[in-house]
Amino acid sequence: MEKILDEKQQGNTLVIEPRKGNSRKLFIESYGCAMNFSDSEIVASILSKEGFDTTQHLEEADLVLVNTCSIREKAEQTVRKRLEKYNAVKRINPKMKVGVLGCMAERLKSKFLEEEKIVDLVVGPDAYKDLPNLINDVEEGRDAVNVLLSKDETYGDISPVRLQSNGVSAFVSITRGCDNMCTFCVVPFTRGRERSRDPQSIVEEVNDLAEKGFKEITLLGQNVDSYLWYGGGLKKDFKNASEMQKATSVNFAALLKLCAEAQPKMRIRFSTSNPQDMTMDVIETMANYRNICDYIHLPVQSGSDRILKKMNRLHTRKEYFEMIDNIKKLIPDCGISHDIITGFPTETEEDHQDTLELMEYVKYHFGYMFAYSERPGTMAERKFEDDVPEEIKKRRLTEIVNLQRKHSLYRTQTFIGKTVEVLIEKESKKSDAHWSGRTQQSTVAVFPKENYKVGDFVNVKISDCTSATLIGEAVGYSHLTPEEGIEATIK
Ligand code: 5AD
Ligand code: SF4
Repeated sequence: MEKILDEKQQGNTLVIEPRKGNSRKLFIESYGCAMNFSDSEIVASILSKEGFDTTQHLEEADLVLVNTCSIREKAEQTVRKRLEKYNAVKRINPKMKVGVLGCMAERLKSKFLEEEKIVDLVVGPDAYKDLPNLINDVEEGRDAVNVLLSKDETYGDISPVRLQSNGVSAFVSITRGCDNMCTFCVVPFTRGRERSRDPQSIVEEVNDLAEKGFKEITLLGQNVDSYLWYGGGLKKDFKNASEMQKATSVNFAALLKLCAEAQPKMRIRFSTSNPQDMTMDVIETMANYRNICDYIHLPVQSGSDRILKKMNRLHTRKEYFEMIDNIKKLIPDCGISHDIITGFPTETEEDHQDTLELMEYVKYHFGYMFAYSERPGTMAERKFEDDVPEEIKKRRLTEIVNLQRKHSLYRTQTFIGKTVEVLIEKESKKSDAHWSGRTQQSTVAVFPKENYKVGDFVNVKISDCTSATLIGEAVGYSHLTPEEGIEATIK
């Protein structure tokens, strides 16, 4: 099940549930990573208090917001194309205002207003609470730009409006920003310093989602393993602040436990993990709780130690293998996926072979693969020449995609004859007589609908597969189904 996320596939437009009652109409769409989709839900919540209802129809919008991605050049080009479309609509609806949010807003700042005449407001990822003031500025004819990055904004106090929701799965953001400074990556510049959200507000959001009938949550962060909350307030029993901090701090493993125990009938997922930050206690926690999914997205980027060093990835190929071995030891059926970049500056055929060999060792369930795209302002842009010719980057990309396809098929075939737990998400695209859902390992499974419904946890016996999809038949409800009554969370 290889996934090459070019921006066309990655930048799905949000299909928005219309909300009624307010007077102004907001059309909001998101490109890029899950964090952007989650942020748009925060923005919709902030603006619903300002009298905006979301609409699916661009033509009737008073305000159009596009949440943008800068991770590769193509992502930015996609947004520029969308702006042309807004321009055409503005000719019919001249009162419509257009705002740019997210990473491109942060990267280009007020330059956006000069470069794209259609744009009225530019708002960076940490400034969404200022949107009401900025919209006011625009309405009064002033330029509206706020790209200030914050060291502590987590939007923990905002209850997101669920957009494009299937009512089954939801994102819950737990950290923002990234301190890792991988040399190819623009994220530390566009999303600022890493910070963690108060665990209590996270658990409250999870509980609220459970009450609303959601069955699966994904804890989101650029680097979830670095989640760390020092809170708790000074208590009398502690001698000093540092002793208190140690005793009351919550790391990622502890947060996972809190969520898994708060809602034992809900599936817990998380993304993204980074090899240098992932710890054994996270793997142990996954192994201990049956409602934490056996799936880890563990980007490696390259299999060559020389390239990993140039990327500032802070782990070696050997350390990555050790991590994979530890995962397999504790969670033998764990699904593992990757991100890999081909054609990073100076990458040789030998480095590329190292990547193919690493893939051969892990045999990932699936992966996201990209050709290197030089990003302005990154360390790689400043220090290294983008010297691998485009056709070589593309050829290497094709090679890793083909190998991944082989491994994906190998992985899906191992499910044949087994019974797996599937959470039903929607109707299968290919047949209205079949449901589509995902296994714990995040592999898609389809099976005849019978009397099951969206949101059910079903045990499915797998009889066939492609490299991307498992095909089978339901054999009953899984233990996560409330009526099944098995309360034990610990495996
Ligand atoms: N060029 C290509 N791919 C990139 N990624 C991040 N920056 C770049 C870049 N400059 C990929 C990495 C990362 C994923 C989200 O996007 O693989 O893990
Ligand atoms: Fe970018 Fe590296 Fe941070 Fe991921 S861990 S967001 S690739 S800097």
